[in-house]
Amino acid sequence: MHPHLKEVLFTREQIAQRVKELAQDVSHDYEGKNPLVVGILKGSIMFTVDLLKELSIDAEVDFMDVTSYGYGISSSGEVRILKDLSSVAHGRDILIVEDIIDTGNTLLYLKKLLQGRGANSVKIISLLDKPSGRKVEIEADYVGFEVPDAFIVGYGIDYAERYRQLPYIGIFNEEFLIKE
Ligand code: PRP
Ligand code: MN
Ligand code: MG
Repeated sequence: MHPHLKEVLFTREQIAQRVKELAQDVSHDYEGKNPLVVGILKGSIMFTVDLLKELSIDAEVDFMDVTSYGYGISSSGEVRILKDLSSVAHGRDILIVEDIIDTGNTLLYLKKLLQGRGANSVKIISLLDKPSGRKVEIEADYVGFEVPDAFIVGYGIDYAERYRQLPYIGIFNEEFLIKE
């Protein structure tokens, strides 16, 4: 375990198993629909790639980069687009891929945005869900694991851009918070 972590929540193997199960559900629900799978940078990089590899249907992939946290530890509530889709959303069945839903600000914003562009459907898959953090009303259609009200890092999820490379998910030890 990385020395800045307090605890490992999900091992590489547990994540792989859950991603496989989620991919089966998605493959079943999107059979013949050629969905546009939209990974939300940067947190969802690992989940998006691993999910795609386990799909048994045709799908297209695209990415959007939005941010609400910057370098702080709590959501500002304001979502900014840093990179937009390359694809046209109109008429597509879009599956937004997220690493974690916390306040819900990011996903509420994205869902409304893509619906507003005339997508045929917009669904959300999130590897992690932190229901205790919710500030707006939004739920994912597919969730991998529920997580407690703790500082989660790893498998794409960062604190101040660090720890994304970890192949497992754990709780950050706040003794290692960067002091301003
Ligand atoms: C994190 C995380 C989700 C979002 C969840 O992204 O990856 O996208 O926050 O929080 P919310 O439900 O409160 O909106 P962040 O904005 O930190 O960007 P990143 O993915 O590049 O780290
Ligand atoms: Mn993110
Ligand atoms: Mg972040």
